[in-house]
Amino acid sequence: MAEAALATNGTKHIDNSDGAIAQANGSPATYSAPSRVTLHLGHLPSKKDIKAPWPRTPSRVDPNNPPWPAYRGYHEYSFAHATMGVRLPTILGKAIDDTSRTLNEQSAEDKIVDLVESLERMDTLMADLSGNAKLRPIIDDGEGDVALWNKEIAKYFQGKDFMNAPWLFAEAYKYRRLHECFSVSKYWKDYDVFYRQKCDTFSRSTDAVFELSMRFAEPFKQSENMSDKEKAENERLMFLELTQVCLWGNSTDLSLLINMTEEQIKSLQSTGGDHLAATEKNILGNHLNQLWETVKVLREKTGGRIDFVLDNAGFELYCDFVYADFLIQTGLAKQIRFHGKRYPWFVSDVTRKDWDWLLNTMVYGHLFPKASEAERESLRRLGARWKQYEKDGRWQYEQHPFWCTGYTFWDLHSEAPDLFLHLSRSDLVYFKGDLNHRKLTYDCAAPASVPFDISIGPMASAAGAPKICSLRTIKSDVVVGLGDDGDAIAERLDKEEPGWKISGKYAVVLLSEGRPGEKVRFA
Ligand code: F6P
Ligand code: MG
Repeated sequence: MAEAALATNGTKHIDNSDGAIAQANGSPATYSAPSRVTLHLGHLPSKKDIKAPWPRTPSRVDPNNPPWPAYRGYHEYSFAHATMGVRLPTILGKAIDDTSRTLNEQSAEDKIVDLVESLERMDTLMADLSGNAKLRPIIDDGEGDVALWNKEIAKYFQGKDFMNAPWLFAEAYKYRRLHECFSVSKYWKDYDVFYRQKCDTFSRSTDAVFELSMRFAEPFKQSENMSDKEKAENERLMFLELTQVCLWGNSTDLSLLINMTEEQIKSLQSTGGDHLAATEKNILGNHLNQLWETVKVLREKTGGRIDFVLDNAGFELYCDFVYADFLIQTGLAKQIRFHGKRYPWFVSDVTRKDWDWLLNTMVYGHLFPKASEAERESLRRLGARWKQYEKDGRWQYEQHPFWCTGYTFWDLHSEAPDLFLHLSRSDLVYFKGDLNHRKLTYDCAAPASVPFDISIGPMASAAGAPKICSLRTIKSDVVVGLGDDGDAIAERLDKEEPGWKISGKYAVVLLSEGRPGEKVRFA
């Protein structure tokens, strides 16, 4: 059908829909089609100031509807897509290989048959993951988290599958299902498919391990020749450097470094002073100085209880220990509580067995045959001192079931009030690593300029919320707390360094205000 349009020169043309332009008198046009049409909209309603619907009001936030849009596996632009579609099946495939290797080492028939059944369950999980099955309830295997898992599935994820549930939940669910493959068995309840890998990265971290042990084996002492002012400054500088050691220890988590060479690991783990000064530039949200202001007063104020919500085993845990040792020796903290996982989680996370392994291998192990006697002795001394802290209660390992659920920490106060109350008694709670950061911030597409306190919701605003410090190398999409220029910084990096959010090259050290001292009330 031919339609009339007003050309910019005012001549009437007929569009014959086949692209040919003819004049109204039928003769062909001798010039090109009009380039622009301007309409006057004077009679239409005026433009409104439309606000983006984000963030959701707190009462509308729930696990399927985070404050800003959730990342989901089907979002091809996000790391969620690569993780759900490729990384998780690869990780599961390697877990199956590990279990098969263990199977081949067995001699007792009942144990073999039991493990074959675990392997069959892993095959089913692989089929569910690759076939994007719906998320079914967790089988009651007696774990303390079953009710939490099934409540969350029933309330928010009925009918959802691996790809359309929020990435955080779907990914956590996969690790819970993996645990179930063993937890319902007779002989293999505590089997850890990642244990070999976890031990392996520590033994492949030789240079960085001895770099630290040779410096810290001797108990820390300030030089007698320094004035009090110099001592205080020295303590501050050590604190800042060791905070960075603890921070960058997180860049080597196993789930991402599956194919890394020893050289690549070495450069990531470099702990020298110059290197750390340079890497401070890569801390995009940097509250290091505020952190020191918080920690330096603990000695006098309360005697100091500091908590670490741990992330990875092996080298990262070793860095956490070095840092915690400094806090104890300087008297900045009297007591440190470490929170680990009850079962294998996100490949490299610390379990009780990993904790014990590290301390015992340092004291008794033969992991570093090429090391000098002095280096081996330094490791033994450190290990012995740290074991003593554990014996006398200055260091304590804890493993609340909530840490292995699909809930974010926005729900910590409501779903695990006992844990919230426990943490609220701490002077400072460090959350290590990427996954903990995702859980603090609801793993959603919040703008990078959103302040940390806003992004962590009730973990900052609920009565009794402790001071929180997130030490995280950036390894996934969510990035907040970069300050007023944060959106521009993120936009520039998106353009100049695609992949900056998953490389582990950048980091944040973010501190919340906390509301300690306020009464905690539970409905
Ligand atoms: O699988 C993705 C992920 O959850 C990312 O958040 C991160 O890259 C990794 O796994 C775990 O990192 P971290 O050990 O630092 O929590
Ligand atoms: Mg981890």
